[in-house]
Amino acid sequence: MFDTIIRQANLPDGRIADVGIAKGRIAAIEASLPAEAGEVVDATGRLLSPSFCDPHFHMDATLSLGLPRMNVSGTLLEGIALWGELRPLLTKEALVDRALRYCDLAVSQGLLHIRTHVDTSDPRLVTAEALLEVQDRVRDYIDLQLVAFPQDGYYRAPQGAKSLERALDMGVGIVGGIPHFERTMEEGRLSLEALCRIAAERGLMVDIHCDETDDPMSRHVETLAAETIRHGLQGRVNGSHLTSMHSMDNYYVSKLIPLMAEARMNATPNPLINIMLQGRHDSYPKRRGMTRVPELMAAGINVSLGQDCTMDPWYSMGSADMLEVAHMAVHVAQMGGIEQKARIFDAITVNSAKTMGLEDYGLVVGNHADLVLVQAADVTEAIRLKPTRLIVWRRGRVVSRTAPRLSDLNLPGRPARIDPGADFLPPALRAR
Ligand code: FE2
Repeated sequence: MFDTIIRQANLPDGRIADVGIAKGRIAAIEASLPAEAGEVVDATGRLLSPSFCDPHFHMDATLSLGLPRMNVSGTLLEGIALWGELRPLLTKEALVDRALRYCDLAVSQGLLHIRTHVDTSDPRLVTAEALLEVQDRVRDYIDLQLVAFPQDGYYRAPQGAKSLERALDMGVGIVGGIPHFERTMEEGRLSLEALCRIAAERGLMVDIHCDETDDPMSRHVETLAAETIRHGLQGRVNGSHLTSMHSMDNYYVSKLIPLMAEARMNATPNPLINIMLQGRHDSYPKRRGMTRVPELMAAGINVSLGQDCTMDPWYSMGSADMLEVAHMAVHVAQMGGIEQKARIFDAITVNSAKTMGLEDYGLVVGNHADLVLVQAADVTEAIRLKPTRLIVWRRGRVVSRTAPRLSDLNLPGRPARIDPGADFLPPALRAR
């Protein structure tokens, strides 16, 4: 007896199956399940995916757009300056309120696993206090990981080093950093040495805003890989952004990528933000600024995709939608082939789960029933359409339902109703 059976769903790998859920876990995936269930969902023609993961976000800044003013230039550096103006005005109550509202939106988009950076530059640490409370309050429906992030620099901010360690003491669980924002290249290198040592001593993961710049000589990723190996942190380190790799010399990259693979580093570009913020000092042609996604994937490096921002000092858009992130990645990385799009879908699901170290994640019997039913036929259609998330399950319990988007037409000699998620896939692609 199952609590729920999701019948005839299209799975991300192309199978069509019944998925049985019992006691919060995936209990069976079969071509056909005869058993009865508390609830039966007809998923014919719809994609059933593991819930989406966002391994790079800033929940302390989200939904603060316009506070205390707008970012006029739209640049990364004005965003950091603007955040510096807002930070002294932050209260725990306002931070908790905005974060909880964002989490509501995330759930409705099937996004149930989020890693957020927590700015530790203000020694009040009101950000850490607030997001630790949010982590606890959303525990039943979102896995929320927190990174101690010295936004103004581990060495550059007056109490950067001390505040970061205090945040870790409070329970923030991952070590962050921003080497390219330290005063000098040398201080950036030293910050990575210190941060990897702290992580090794405390048994924590590392997630670094690394080389978020167009400067091809910003090579902190090399140090991060070397320190990862030196401290035995293989598999536990994430290099976020890595945008300088876009502009690096090809010969240097041919040495760098194998080093990153040796360190079993994860790589997390943030395509919405990278395409918006990089290349700002270029006239024309303008660089794209996203790191080398297909090349990293080809080298066996785990590439996950992050959202980074939604309606904050750096980015006025965003909608907690990892399919929007995937859609942008396909364009910026020029990965438009069917297999390439499938790999990009992996980057917002299983790859991101790996970066985050999530346990029991994915569409496998025995794993958590954290699932989303999408109004699209397959993973490539999901990326194309960014469609309605029809039902979202957390540990087998429905946490969000949204009516499908259907349009009733009034046109002579044409169909009365269209379903954008079902009616437009060319027949040659339907049988895949
Ligand atoms: Fe970020």
